[in-house]
Amino acid sequence: ASMDMIGGELLAWYDRHARDLPWRALPGKPAPDPYRVWLSEVMLQQTTVAAVKPYFAKFTQRWPTIADLAAAPEEEIMAAWAGLGYYSRARNLVKCARVVGEAGAFPETEAGLRELPGLGVYTAAAVAAIAFGRRAVVVDANVERVVSRLFAIDEPLPGARKAIREKADAITPDARAGDFAQAMMDLGSGVCSSRNPVCSLCPLNAHCEARKTGEPERFPVKAQKKPK
Ligand code: ADE
Repeated sequence: ASMDMIGGELLAWYDRHARDLPWRALPGKPAPDPYRVWLSEVMLQQTTVAAVKPYFAKFTQRWPTIADLAAAPEEEIMAAWAGLGYYSRARNLVKCARVVGEAGAFPETEAGLRELPGLGVYTAAAVAAIAFGRRAVVVDANVERVVSRLFAIDEPLPGARKAIREKADAITPDARAGDFAQAMMDLGSGVCSSRNPVCSLCPLNAHCEARKTGEPERFPVKAQKKPK
């Protein structure tokens, strides 16, 4: 029973507590187009929300559509990316913009998105869910932490990833999968944090197995370091 309730309860919390981020659909704001969802997810892959915000604003002002980005010289895009790091992301961004520009639109399925340059398992699932409302299992490090705690998964990372993905799949609702994914990210970054989870503020605390152990911060379990 608890499994079926988690999605709905988390979405109800998100409706009240979602962070207002420039790449998000919130009440009263138009839904962001797939270009903005993709751009934000690529930027957020290895970079914090705070660091991404000014770059996201700069890119979308300078290149308002993916056709504009596809038409821009690679050096200009690389120069605009300077400071964000992980430059292979920017090179793939250019390639992806040209492929999508040529095709006329983003593919709308997870499998189709997965074929684009720079879109791995996480990004393809995130764009499918957030931009196209597809049911997809979106697992980043925040989601990994929340799920490993909800189910007190004892197996250490990285071996636990399979079990985490299965549990994440089991709690992903059919409707609003994009909001659900972003709610998990907000919960992981603001409430179910790595060192100091604030269980009293968590909308899922009644369902959480790690909380019952009294040591939620023990999850996800890390592989033992080899003694020196
Ligand atoms: N990290 C990666 N994608 C995100 C999103 N859509 N919202 C907040 N944090 C994120």
